[in-house]
Amino acid sequence: MPERIVILTGSGISAESGISTFRDKGGIWSKYNVNDVATPEGFARYPKLVLDFYNMRRRIHKEVQPNPAHLALARLEREYPGEVLVVTQNVDQLHELAGTKNLIHMHGEVFRAWCMACDARCDWCDDLTPETPCPACKQTGSFRPNVVWFGETPYHMDVIADALAVASLFVSIGTSGTVYPAAGFVALARRSGARTVEINLEVSGGARHFDEFLHGPAGTEVPRFVERILAAR
Ligand code: OAD
Repeated sequence: MPERIVILTGSGISAESGISTFRDKGGIWSKYNVNDVATPEGFARYPKLVLDFYNMRRRIHKEVQPNPAHLALARLEREYPGEVLVVTQNVDQLHELAGTKNLIHMHGEVFRAWCMACDARCDWCDDLTPETPCPACKQTGSFRPNVVWFGETPYHMDVIADALAVASLFVSIGTSGTVYPAAGFVALARRSGARTVEINLEVSGGARHFDEFLHGPAGTEVPRFVERILAAR
């Protein structure tokens, strides 16, 4: 019977496309205070600082292209006879640009916006300022990037939990395994009987829960791994 595969990706999969990771040397959290720019409290206190931070990231994300790791996961979804679900913590668009369709952005998307006043959500490619009105209700001050901040609940947790419960293979790519709930997915998948594989430049926080560790850059290791899975079917 074809396997059901759940793949968790983190910022390491986009590093070779030119997007900074968060906790590696020189990463985003060495330059910005996470409590200021990635919490609801930070947004209440410093709205312009927070919106400028995501404006900067949106501009960077407009310039980048998928790398061989994103493309290989899209190929896996196309060619594998079973179900492949990619759950990403990344707010960039690189999985979509590569062609992945069955995709969950559990931490939201920088190219979408959300109005906390009326709950409207829409695509958003431009800069946001505290004066930008929500296109739906026209209120200002509540319109923000549709990204999940610390202290907020990630999206689609029910769908992810269901997928982990029936997964036969769980693969974690380019994530440090330090931010929950994503960091707990490997243990959940393993408890449900999944084989667990990590692809990373270094051993992550959840290392003891992985059956196999593939050491190397995602752009090299993911295409090789996908080739192996497709050849074995
Ligand atoms: P981190 O910066 O915590 O971890 C990046 C991981 O990618 C590390 O384990 C690196 O070893 C690995 N890595 C770097 N380059 C790589 C490459 N070329 N190939 C393979 N692996 C590589 O980033 P995340 O784990 O994504 O959340 O962080 C998780 C969450 O914390 C993010 O979604 C974000 C952040 O704060 C929010 O903002 C809510």
